[in-house]
Amino acid sequence: MKTRLTDLLNIRCPIIQSGMASVATPSLVSAVCKAGGLGILAAAGQSAEVLRDEIRQLQKTTDGMFGVNLVPIAPRFPDHFRVALQEKVPVLCSGLRNPFSLTDTKKPAGMMYIPTVGNLKQALSVERSGADAVIVQGVEAGGHASKISSMILIPEVAENVKIPVVGAGGFCDGRGLAAALMLGAEGIAMGTRFAITQESPIPAALKEIYLKSDTADVVLSSVWDGFPMRVIRGEKMKRYRGWWTHPWDLPIMILSAKKAYGASWREMMAAVKGARLLHANLMQYLVGMEKNRICIVTGDISRGFSPSGQVVGRIKDIPTCRELINRIIAEADAARDILLSDRSSSTHGAVAI
Ligand SMILES: Cc1cc2nc3c(=O)[nH]c(=O)nc-3n(C[C@H](O)[C@H](O)[C@H](O)COP(=O)(O)O)c2cc1C
Repeated sequence: MKTRLTDLLNIRCPIIQSGMASVATPSLVSAVCKAGGLGILAAAGQSAEVLRDEIRQLQKTTDGMFGVNLVPIAPRFPDHFRVALQEKVPVLCSGLRNPFSLTDTKKPAGMMYIPTVGNLKQALSVERSGADAVIVQGVEAGGHASKISSMILIPEVAENVKIPVVGAGGFCDGRGLAAALMLGAEGIAMGTRFAITQESPIPAALKEIYLKSDTADVVLSSVWDGFPMRVIRGEKMKRYRGWWTHPWDLPIMILSAKKAYGASWREMMAAVKGARLLHANLMQYLVGMEKNRICIVTGDISRGFSPSGQVVGRIKDIPTCRELINRIIAEADAARDILLSDRSSSTHGAVAI
């Protein structure tokens, strides 16, 4: 399946695996790349030294085309960015803020920049600042959420920018891909769906919890880490109202995050300053960021939470990335055939695949 996105990235299928801290590791990214999509490695949740090793692994295990996702409010973001530039990663992605303008750095020749945005104003702004494509993320998405539904946002942006638009938020199958293409996108990016694949590193127990969750189990709130974030959460977190109800967690989580990122106190403070510029509740941010990481790494959701999109309710299996991507393309082709066919004789309007 060819679109302007597949041409831009020189990939077989217009499918991107989104950056997900502690989930989008080399095993997942390289499986997606080998299956014909674009895998994006997550920088957040770890030290810059580990990130460099991971990029070098991907340079060996892929044909060279993969992305790196930066979180500009994560501890050691400047180091993550420096490593990505030094290692000449082919595609750089980010949400929340533009790493190039934040650090007054010119985008290197040969590097593509594909940021994630949540509204038209942001899409126009990243296009003006030289983005090669834009991921538009609807309110359905897992993680830090936007406010507008994909159904509205994708055509709104596609009608107003010239760069390729990638739809994100709420996609898990070929009907979704076909719908996104109809709405004007050139491809889709999926987080939650790729988190529940064979090659995803999250522990089996947590994958089972995702599989058992339905759409109503997914909660959007700023209580988790100070920013509006869509998650599934454990029993104890159902009563969680903020860090002040668990003050003993604060020093434990700060020390744990400092260790995971290999960060100095100065680097931790710099991350906090970045979050403050975006008006986050700082204590909530520090505690939440680490509760999220620990939950994903250990698979223990009892006292924590894990980002999830609304689409989790439609995910019922754990395929390999190759099976998933091939299935999505076959389903999208079938959906296109249905669109072109006479539907007057169809009984339920369901896509038979
Ligand atoms: C487990 C998980 C972790 C995520 N971590 C990040 C992250 O580190 N950086 C980021 O920009 N977005 C992150 N996101 C958002 C995804 O990149 C993506 O935009 C979103 O999952 C798309 O919506 P979907 O879940 O409906 O597919 C995360 C999402 C999930 C589900």
